Amino acid sequence: MTLQAQLEALRDNTLKEIAQVATLKELNQIRVETLGKKGPITEVLRGMKNLSPEERPVVGGCANEIRDLLTEAIEARKVVLENEALNAALKEESLDVTLPGKQMPQGTRHILTQVMEEIEDIFLGMGYQVVEGYEVESDHYNFERMNLPKDHPARDMQDTFYISDEMLIRTHTSPVQARTMEKHDFSKGALRMISPGKVFRRDTDDATHSHQFHQIEGLVVDKNVTMGDLKGTLEVMMKKMFGEDRKIRLRPSYFPFTEPSVEVDVSCFKCGGAGCNVCKHTGWIEILGAGMVHPDVLQMSGIDPTEYSGFAFGLGPDRVAMLRYGVNDIRNFYQNDLRFLNQFKVKE
Ligand code: DAH
Repeated sequence: MTLQAQLEALRDNTLKEIAQVATLKELNQIRVETLGKKGPITEVLRGMKNLSPEERPVVGGCANEIRDLLTEAIEARKVVLENEALNAALKEESLDVTLPGKQMPQGTRHILTQVMEEIEDIFLGMGYQVVEGYEVESDHYNFERMNLPKDHPARDMQDTFYISDEMLIRTHTSPVQARTMEKHDFSKGALRMISPGKVFRRDTDDATHSHQFHQIEGLVVDKNVTMGDLKGTLEVMMKKMFGEDRKIRLRPSYFPFTEPSVEVDVSCFKCGGAGCNVCKHTGWIEILGAGMVHPDVLQMSGIDPTEYSGFAFGLGPDRVAMLRYGVNDIRNFYQNDLRFLNQFKVKE
């Protein structure tokens, strides 16, 4: 066989192998074996000096041509194999974006927080400011400034946890009234505030008593504030909280810091007043205490009661939530049992 014929045979075989090869590794092996330094083509080109002057250009041209052809064929095959490898990898690692995602467990605001924020929103809408008080309070603000001097019998209703003779954890949110009144600048207009927060009493815990619970205090002081303003305000609040059809009624009561004082009932949101288990078959639900701010309370906060008057109220959001959601034990709010709390999930 002539050298030329051998080269042509090599070309044909190698082209076949290149076409059949399945991996880049094998392809590289073919390249090294045929085109490499120790491969047959290099060998032919190296042996040119032994050829006759007539043969040299023919064989040389043929060898170069075949080397270029095979180099090109290997490159082309390499591109194809690389693409195949890439496609296989993409297929392997592909994401199915139609699969449902993994749900992250998400918490929710506590039901009492939700109720308090709802009430805050009602009053913010009526131009009130939301004020935060202190949970650790002095006897002075908690009692004395609310018209409950040291020996006052009404203190018995609010026995609590004392830190010292003068410091305690507050029994009600009413001390925020005194703290806000003494700071208010009436030249800038009326004082309208609510103050939500925790309060504490030395109660024996049962279904309707907890040593820690919540109150929302309300206070308006201005010139010519009347009982009519109190009634109108409470009616708006109750309609927003329990439905537009609600009515309220006021009954005489007693609090040391208001005069006159009232107990406020709302018509039952469940039966509409006909009588049911929620309203204990009376048609009315007792919902809060309120009254006209006692002149002495105004005076102690540096406000002239002959010029200014005000109304105040104290509401229990725990009780509101119990009534509204049919919760029959207040302790549920404080036990952090997710089976209970998860029933009040809001969409944030
Ligand atoms: N502080 C009272 C209590 O804890 C509730 C209360 C009643 C607050 C009447 C008021 C009010 O502002 O006017 O029992």
